[in-house]
Amino acid sequence: MAEKGSNKLWGGRFAEETNELAAAFNNSLPFDRRLWREDLDGSRAHARMLAKQGILTEEEARVILEGLDRIEAEIEADTFPWRDEYEDVHMNVEARLTELVGEVGGKLHTARSRNDQVATDLRLWLRRALAAVVEAQQELARVLVAEAERHLEPPLILPGYTHLQRAQPVLLSHWFMAYYEMLSRDTTRVLDALFRLDESPLGAAALAGTSFPIDRHYTAEQLGFLEPMRNSLDAVASRDFVLEALSAITIGQLTLSRLAEELVLYSSFEFGFVTLPDAFATGSSIMPQKKNPDIPELIRAKAGRTIGDLVTLLTVVKGLPLAYNKDLQEDKEPLFDALDTYTSSLRLMGALLPGLTWHPETTKKAAAGGFALATDLADYLARKGMPFRQAHSVVGRIVRKLQEEGRDLDDLSLDELRSFSDLFDEDALTLLSVEGSVASRNVYGGTAPEQVRARIAEAKRELEEDPS
Ligand code: ARG
Repeated sequence: MAEKGSNKLWGGRFAEETNELAAAFNNSLPFDRRLWREDLDGSRAHARMLAKQGILTEEEARVILEGLDRIEAEIEADTFPWRDEYEDVHMNVEARLTELVGEVGGKLHTARSRNDQVATDLRLWLRRALAAVVEAQQELARVLVAEAERHLEPPLILPGYTHLQRAQPVLLSHWFMAYYEMLSRDTTRVLDALFRLDESPLGAAALAGTSFPIDRHYTAEQLGFLEPMRNSLDAVASRDFVLEALSAITIGQLTLSRLAEELVLYSSFEFGFVTLPDAFATGSSIMPQKKNPDIPELIRAKAGRTIGDLVTLLTVVKGLPLAYNKDLQEDKEPLFDALDTYTSSLRLMGALLPGLTWHPETTKKAAAGGFALATDLADYLARKGMPFRQAHSVVGRIVRKLQEEGRDLDDLSLDELRSFSDLFDEDALTLLSVEGSVASRNVYGGTAPEQVRARIAEAKRELEEDPS
């Protein structure tokens, strides 16, 4: 058996022992152990195919399959002897197989290379992992829709912002549904990545295919892939499927990061719109008055991490010659890291949102203040026939006067309004309520309760359907 860092793994080719530092540097076992289940699945399909094609005898395949089952049991029971000197998960499984079933174990690697093996394992692994991501996204989507529905009646109104300046009042439900729409697209991006990775590299062998009469369609089907990959060089050299998953995850994490940022802002003393649940906030070790939004802050920060993961692999793949290069071993850590980060962020956000306490008086006051209803007045004049550009400037003058006097729009009397334009009538005053303002934006996709209610009903139906 191989000793620590031993070149005996590679048979008689090497005269020297592997340098210990080089062996440690080369060792991917600490992270690629995660692929063990997929490695066993891939090996089983390969062994069955070899027997079907008469490359192995039925008896040899039976012994190998039994050995693979024993390995599965050992790994599950945590009794499997993981050994760093075997470099990666694939060599560990194969070496153990030969220990368990004897020489015949060495026949499993006929017509296969670790190059097509690792590409196959990673696609299989990603297929499961991304399906779990979609599930976590759907969970959060349900929470967003439920929160939107909960705050529809009575309608909770808050300021909508542009440039972080109060712009126009919106329903909190509309705000929740904005994140629902973003998350829905994030989900379709993951589904797209899943769709494109669904083909089998197995049988590409090292890079050129193999001289053995293998059946790649059979292994593809056994592993639940749509079809075998059509080019052996591409099959072992390409990692765009990982890049696509990473980019879908990163965009998804950006959505969460923006939501987290709004929670940080809105829960600050300056805004005072919402209080975070105690279970998701922390105190300060020195300032007794503090309740810190650590969890939203971390979700926001972890976008930096997933972006880093994506950039890492983009950089690794850039300029890499065909076909396999050891550089490609560097695909796994960023992928695992981004997936773990995004999945836990999705779960945390879903757990936190229902525990928020919103403060409707504060949000409404903020929505009415800061001249957020100025557009409504301008629209009013435009409806009465004044060109909108002119109406914009009339209302601009009103706002400037009020600002100078330290007053707000709800302070205006009809007489005062009429001194700016005689198009103003009694009904202009009713416009100066946030409820009226919100209700008037009754266009498809707008913030009027009627529109938002319809979209919530539709979203609930969407969530009942299978996303794939
Ligand atoms: N551990 C390797 C990886 O993750 C497996 C493939 C190794 N292939 C090779 N030719 N050295 O990429």
